[in-house]
Order: sequence, then structure tokens, then C-alpha cells
Amino acid sequence: LITPILLCGGSGTRLWPLSRKSYPKQFVPLMGEETLFQASARRLSGQTDQLRFAAPMVLTNSDFRFIVTEQLQAIGIDPGAVLIEPEGRNTAPAVLAAALRAQAEDPDAVLLVAPSDHVVPDTAAFHAAVAKGLEAVAEGQMVTFGITPAHAETAYGYLELAAAPEAGNAPVPLKQFVEKPDAARAAEMLAAGNFKWNAGIFLFRAADVIAAFKTHAPALMEPVQAALDQAKTDLGFLRLAAEPWSRAEDISIDYAVMEKAENLSVVPFDAAWSDLGGWDAVWRESGPDATGVVTSGGATAIDCRDTLLRADSERLEVVGIGLDGIIAVAMNDAVLVADKSRAQDVKKAVTALKQKG
Ligand code: GDD
Ligand code: MG
Repeated sequence: LITPILLCGGSGTRLWPLSRKSYPKQFVPLMGEETLFQASARRLSGQTDQLRFAAPMVLTNSDFRFIVTEQLQAIGIDPGAVLIEPEGRNTAPAVLAAALRAQAEDPDAVLLVAPSDHVVPDTAAFHAAVAKGLEAVAEGQMVTFGITPAHAETAYGYLELAAAPEAGNAPVPLKQFVEKPDAARAAEMLAAGNFKWNAGIFLFRAADVIAAFKTHAPALMEPVQAALDQAKTDLGFLRLAAEPWSRAEDISIDYAVMEKAENLSVVPFDAAWSDLGGWDAVWRESGPDATGVVTSGGATAIDCRDTLLRADSERLEVVGIGLDGIIAVAMNDAVLVADKSRAQDVKKAVTALKQKG
């Protein structure tokens, strides 16, 4: 039995204007009918021949708590627990809180920690990879999932494999975990050939990850445990206590634990995966037509190439003529028009608008 831990505290500014502070990308239907959060919850539900998932534990903040329960209810999934973080302290405190709570309920709990804003279209392939990972988890390993790198990305973690993967993608021991390298280092690792991207999905026994926190990030133990001990139940949500939580260091699990742990294994994941890190990725994952055009909603493209045109409101007609390499996203209250090569700069729009007030 695996308990899914769904992380959905992030804000996703690179997908503005669809992704907003009050309604970030994981909760909007970015591709298809379901939201990324719903698709993630569904991917981690039910059972196969090799796997059985318990009800998920969701970690989020106060603003999103009703979105979470409504979106789960809409797809018929009961959350096992929704933990509310008084403020975002990044993924290390969140995962530790989840692990401590899960272990208190079941000392043998196995957790699958997953972001809620990724696209993994092939659920069967994903379940097969998780089942492979369980072999290593049984031996006390913490498992990461490795994506074959496509370019020298600096926004990801890199996993150095200690040996070449075997056919069938059995878990491979990890030699080194490098979180978010600079461009030169990323290029080196890409060229070396024995590195994978960290998919940001982790499988481990709660007891093993807690032991890793005790060794590598001991200062997190007391505040996170206290935030849980003093947590209050409120309308079915478990609200972590604010004062101890504010004392927990703001750090990701990648830096706090994964870069340092020695009991890591990698399950290579060959099927499609994307973290939709920008509009260019949405364009790519949406399946552009032969001329490279993606339209959605009421958008019409005439003689366009290599372009994403979205009308994210029923009341809007959006027409593009002769566009090449453009991203245009129109909503009732905001319109983005950008050069496709500048997709990563969309976060600057959010900063600029904040400054305007
Ligand atoms: N509950 C909660 N609280 N969730 C959070 C918080 C928080 O404070 N901060 C981030 N999250 C959620 C995000 O919403 C996302 O779903 C997930 O945790 C990962 O956080 P990101 O901030 O998106 O991490 P990243 O993309 O920079 O890096 C991670 O993912 C990469 C792959 O997409 C790392 O694991 C990298 O190594 C990895 O390559
Ligand atoms: Mg991310």
C-alpha cells in the first residue's frame, strides 16, 4: 500500500496569465478538461496488479484548501488528509510533516511524494516504474525517477547513475544528486551521458526519509514535529501550528536531503514527462499541428507557424494572422503576447505587474 503525498503549494508565475497567485497552474485546466492537480491525484489512485494506493495526503496552504477538496470531489477521490501550511516553507518541511504524520499512523508507511503540476500522460508506464521502485524501497533505498535529459536545463536536479540501466529499468544506485546546476555544469552532465533529470517524484518508506532528515537536516525536526503536535483540525483540514512552522528553514527537499543522502536509487523513466515550466512547454506538450500551431478555446490561427494561441474565456474571439514564433494567451482581464523564445521571461511580467501595484 502506497500513500500518495501531493504537494501543491507552488505558484507557477511562468504561466501567467492563466496561472495566478490565487489560482496557480496546478488548479486550472491547462491541457484538456482536467486540471493538472486532478490528473496527478487520479494517476496516484486506485490499484493495479502490482500496486495499491491509499487515499492521498495533500499539502497546501490556506488559500487553496477548498479548491483542493472541490477538485478531488469532482473526480470522486476522497482525500485522506489535507494538511495546511501556515506559510510556504518550500518542500523539505512539507515532506517531513507528511512523513511524520504518516509514520505515526503506520510505522511501515510507504510514501510517493509527487508534485501536482506535472504532465505524465502514460499512467501505465508510470505505475510500472513505481512498482520497480518498490524493489529498492524494500531494501531501505529512497527512490527517485530519472528522465533522459533533452538539453542543458538549469532548473532541474540531475541524477548521476552509478551503473548503466539494465533492460527493464530496474533501480540503479545513485552516485550523485546535483540540484539546479549552473549552465556550464549542466552542459557537462548532459555530455557525460550517465546523468538523468530528477523528475521531482520520490518513493520511500516514511521511516527512511525521516532518518535522512535526522541525519542531514536535523534542525527541521523540532519545529516540524511541534507544528504537527500543535496542529488544529478545522472543517476537516489539519492546520499546522504557525509559530513552530515559522521556525522551520525554508528549503527544498532536494537541497536539504537528496543532495546528501547515500541511500538513493534511480528508476529510469522513459515515457513522456513534463513539468510545464513555461508556455513553450505547454505548446510542445499540446501536440502542435504540422505547421507548429496550437490553438485552444475560441482561437483561430490563419497562416501562422510555430505559435500558441489561446482564448481562455468563452466570451473571447482571438485571431492570429501570419504569426511566427508567438505565444498569445487571452483572458477576460489579461492578455499575454510574447515571442516564443522568451517564454521563460513571463515571470518578469508578474514582477512588473506587482511593482505597478
Ligand atoms: N505544499 C507545498 N508547500 N508545496 C510546495 C511548496 C510548499 O512550500 N513549495 C513548492 N511546492 C510544490 C510545487 O507546487 C510543486 O508541485 C512541487 O512542490 C515542486 O516544487 P517546485 O518549486 O516546482 O520545484 P522545482 O521545479 O524548482 O524543482 C523540483 O522539481 C524538478 C522537476 O520539475 C526539484 O525536485 C528538481 O530536482 C526537479 O528536477
Ligand atoms: Mg517545478
